[in-house]
Amino acid sequence: MAEKTVTLTDNTSGRSAEFPLLQGTVGPEVMDISRLYREMGVFTYDPGFVSTGSCRSAITYIDGDAGKLWYRGYPIEQLAEKADFLEVAYLLIYGELPNPEQLAEFERVIRYHTMINETLKNFFDGFHYDAHPMAVMVGVVGSLSAFYHDSLDIHNPRHREISAHRLIAKMPTIAAACYKHNVGEPFIYPRNDLDYCGNFIHMMFATPCEEFQPDPLMAKAINLLFILHADHEQNASTSTVRLAGSSQANPFACIASGIASLWGPAHGGANEAVLDMLHEIGDVSNIDKYIAKAKDRNDPFRLMGFGHRVYKNFDPRATIIRKMCHEVLDKVADQNSPLFELALELEKVALQDEYFIERKLYPNVDFYSGIIYRALGIPNNMFTVMFAIARTVGWVAHWLEMMDDPEQRIGRPRQLYVGSDLRDYVPLDQR
Ligand code: SDX
Repeated sequence: MAEKTVTLTDNTSGRSAEFPLLQGTVGPEVMDISRLYREMGVFTYDPGFVSTGSCRSAITYIDGDAGKLWYRGYPIEQLAEKADFLEVAYLLIYGELPNPEQLAEFERVIRYHTMINETLKNFFDGFHYDAHPMAVMVGVVGSLSAFYHDSLDIHNPRHREISAHRLIAKMPTIAAACYKHNVGEPFIYPRNDLDYCGNFIHMMFATPCEEFQPDPLMAKAINLLFILHADHEQNASTSTVRLAGSSQANPFACIASGIASLWGPAHGGANEAVLDMLHEIGDVSNIDKYIAKAKDRNDPFRLMGFGHRVYKNFDPRATIIRKMCHEVLDKVADQNSPLFELALELEKVALQDEYFIERKLYPNVDFYSGIIYRALGIPNNMFTVMFAIARTVGWVAHWLEMMDDPEQRIGRPRQLYVGSDLRDYVPLDQR
């Protein structure tokens, strides 16, 4: 079939050129403009990359209008209902659901990489006890490249795979250590008789003073939340990891850059910001006041947990989490129920408001996740850390895909220069 193209013509200079239109498996076609500057002498301009595709990827597909999310072609609803988090991790990294032997081997490999180097524990002591766990996470994960010189040859596929396994395996251990440092309790070592989520819960909440068994409902809820947060196409933190990786930085440094980007309240930090917002609103009687603030262009207040660059319909993950909120809150004696009621009422009011309807602003994945985390006894400042544990799977999957991409080159965008025109230096005594 003849290649589909788009012809661009500069009506001033008359310059014209044809650019290929590429069609993926599903989703919008993309116009390949890699020759645009050479052919037309102009750059594109797209702040926030609203209309820009940065790469080819086979990992995750999102249809924002239809509220669809697929991991390697499998709908998130099916994976959320039927899969285990490490099974999804295998799928995202290797592209296919594992058979029983592959899953057992993957679980074994991850299990035997969960410990962190003993000297790494001294790193935590450099942080004040009340350092935000995300600040500690960024530092500790970035420092991992100082420990694994045996797997830093990024051109060696086996080194890349070992680094991916180490990152997935060690994030829960590091996350739990961040929490223990925060609360002044001794670190708890991983246990090889527990599964991924159970091990994380154990490292978070066990103490050396008594036996501790992870709560099955908590493990089930965390398994689901990790699956829902595992990947999401070219979001800000994943794009950060890809850009860092494009310079051939080592994988630990790339993931540390992803953690830093995720921390922002416009991105993964929104789950913590939602709880802060609900606490600030306090009562359903204040909802109208805060909806008005969110609509006021002169007020920087945003309704945290609402809106999304891609979803112009319900975020399918929010729908799943909202349902699970009920299950968790029904089962745990939870002082957060008023917060959940407030969230439900806030959602109802916002979804009936013309401002939100017109802008297609719906609850996103962060709107309910914090409520569940709190109900499970996880403190607010650990919510984005939870997000980072899960999203590490997506980050390493995209990093591996990028490193294997023959089109991969260093990411180096251009700009529209609006600064001063050429001028000469003025000596200090003449200024
Ligand atoms: C995540 O990219 C991903 O996939 C991210 C993520 C993932 O899994 O990786 O899904 C995870 O980050 C979810 C988003 C979490 N963030 C929040 O909940 C923070 C609150 N949301 C907003 O900051 C905002 O909606 C963004 C950042 C999520 C999206 O920003 P966009 O796409 O740049 O949208 P925009 O700012 O251009 O908004 C369009 C309009 C604007 O109004 P107008 O200028 O047209 O008058 O909608 C308004 C905005 O003011 N708007 C909001 C709003 N979000 C957008 N108004 C009030 N409250 C909001 N939350």
